[in-house]
Amino acid sequence: MNSFSWLEGVDVLIVDDDYDFAKSIEGYLSDYSATVKIITNPAEAILSIENKKPDLVFLDLKMPKISGLDLLPLIKEVDEFLPIIIISGTLDLAEAVETVKSGADDFVSKPILNFDEFGLVIKNVLEKNSLSKEIENYRNNLENIVELRTEELRNANKQLLEEIQKRKNAEEQLKVGTSNVIKAIEESRKMLSKELHDSIGQKMVFLKLNLELALKNKDDSGRYIETASESVTQISTELSAIVKMLYPQSIDKYSLTDNIESLVESFRKISNLNIKTIIVGEEPALDRQVKLNIYRVFQEALNNITKHSKASSVVLITEFLDNKIRCEISDDGIGLEMNIENRRLTSTGFFSMEERIADLNGNFKIETEINKGVKIIFDLTL
Ligand SMILES: Nc1ncnc2c1ncn2[C@@H]1O[C@H](COP(=O)(O)OP(=O)(O)OP(=O)(O)O)[C@@H](O)[C@H]1O
Ligand SMILES: [Mg+2]
Repeated sequence: MNSFSWLEGVDVLIVDDDYDFAKSIEGYLSDYSATVKIITNPAEAILSIENKKPDLVFLDLKMPKISGLDLLPLIKEVDEFLPIIIISGTLDLAEAVETVKSGADDFVSKPILNFDEFGLVIKNVLEKNSLSKEIENYRNNLENIVELRTEELRNANKQLLEEIQKRKNAEEQLKVGTSNVIKAIEESRKMLSKELHDSIGQKMVFLKLNLELALKNKDDSGRYIETASESVTQISTELSAIVKMLYPQSIDKYSLTDNIESLVESFRKISNLNIKTIIVGEEPALDRQVKLNIYRVFQEALNNITKHSKASSVVLITEFLDNKIRCEISDDGIGLEMNIENRRLTSTGFFSMEERIADLNGNFKIETEINKGVKIIFDLTL
């Protein structure tokens, strides 16, 4: 006896109105430990398959009411991979082709004359079926992998687009920054030329005039030379003020607090502001750049207060805490409506203050409200 091990434990459903024939197959299959269920009424087949899926279905081609070929697609609807073998007593070639086309996996003729061959048909069908299932699983897996890769690509693409956008924004900011820097240079050139023209230029004309008068009136030249000498003194004072404004030499020589104090002193002289300075803690040794940048922020803040604020009092706080510096410059003036983003784009003064603190890796912010003054706060770690 052949072993037909593939039949062991296989769950078989036979749908055939010919009970005796079905029984003969059952007898054969149970010899090899297959489990067999027989249904003679085809109308019950679908329900039975739905309740418990067999591993293999034998389907009689010619049954009353519904033929095997009509039942076949209904079974495939329940499980497209369920192997189906058609049984027919009168199967001709055309019918055989028809059954395979309809999705049957194979067919056998009644009566079964050679059970060994019958066993091999079952073996082929089961193998073919498990192969189809494997291929289907593989295809599904492949689809999953493709979907996963597509998703990964989509994400990478999205990140790339975000990166491009970030760079565009950074470029945009750089452009704005550069144009602000250019504007700042232009402004300071304008200021310098105005200063030289209005004050030094006028005094030079006056000086020349007095020297010419002295030459013309040799007898009375002393008077003119005296006036000329006064002009030279004034010119030299103004020149040193301009030089100091362009680059305060004292920055290197004195502490930041002393520099701020002398800056405040010069603002007290040119305005009626009541300026109060508060220093907390001990100033540590500071880099020239740190001193210069902080000094410039104080200078611009005081310039703004003098030019725009209509304030009467100003408070400057400088705190030295461990390795941190924190400063506040507040006035009690008219304040302003602040949209930081707009200000950054359009205001050279605010922009340069912020840039100078950013340059020292510090934090900078402006707090203000209409009629509630302006408070500039910044801090940095040394
Ligand atoms: N303390 C303040 N009080 C009220 N308004 C202020 C104050 N500081 C600045 N502003 C307002 O904010 C604007 C922007 O200031 P910012 O210093 O950037 O430019 P600016 O002083 O007009 O010109 P610049 O500083 O380039 O010479 C000012 O024109 C002014 O309207
Ligand atoms: Mg300004």
